[in-house]
Amino acid sequence: MNIDVFTLFPEWFGWFRGQRHVTNALALGHTLECVDPREATPLKWGQVDDTPFGGGAGMVLRVDVMEAALRARYGVDPVALRERRRVIALTPGGRLLDEALATELAGEEAITLLCGRYEGFDERILEHFTSDQVSIGRYVLAGGELAAMVVADTVMRKLPGVLGKDESALEESFSPALEGAPEYPHYTRPAEWRGWRVPDVLLSGHHERIAAWRREQSRRRSLP
Ligand SMILES: C[S@@+](CC[C@H](N)C(=O)[O-])C[C@H]1O[C@@H](n2cnc3c(N)ncnc32)[C@H](O)[C@@H]1O
Repeated sequence: MNIDVFTLFPEWFGWFRGQRHVTNALALGHTLECVDPREATPLKWGQVDDTPFGGGAGMVLRVDVMEAALRARYGVDPVALRERRRVIALTPGGRLLDEALATELAGEEAITLLCGRYEGFDERILEHFTSDQVSIGRYVLAGGELAAMVVADTVMRKLPGVLGKDESALEESFSPALEGAPEYPHYTRPAEWRGWRVPDVLLSGHHERIAAWRREQSRRRSLP
């Protein structure tokens, strides 16, 4: 899978690219590349944004700059690009990222993530260049970079071979294996600490009873 991130702060991703599951993904041939719209801006002095028509605080990312950046990267009109590639703008009000969306995106060969800054995107970028708008929650971050990392993180860990053990991602919170419910509780040594004992069933060595107990705990956690 190829993930391109359009960001004014590509250096933010240096740390992220060094994380184990990301390095695993890169070693398997997947890519995570940053594109800085300043590099392709047709405006002087690396300008990428401008004041909002109608007034108001903040700066807005320009549509001509985003078009130039997308054209420079893909060599096609961005209006046509979104027909063949998911071009996703990170926006606070977009479709909420959940397990279903992460699984859907992990099935794509390539995705592009557009990070906003300041007041956000000129609306024409969203209307004409993007296939999706995705939010990582109903709150406002200073920029789309952390949101892009969240999307890339959850998508990359779903790629086969990226986690040390692929089974880790099979039976976890919200997975089909748990019928969409949160995961059951885990415990490790010591079996007792300050009088807090690990449930006996987990020490029983009885795999069927353990599986049944876990399913039941998971089901309970999904109840309102
Ligand atoms: C300060 S925010 C802009 C907020 C915008 N003026 C609004 O009120 O919706 C700057 C950028 O951060 C990103 N961002 C902020 N919160 C986000 C969220 N919850 N999910 C995804 N992206 C977010 C978006 O790319 C956004 O364009």
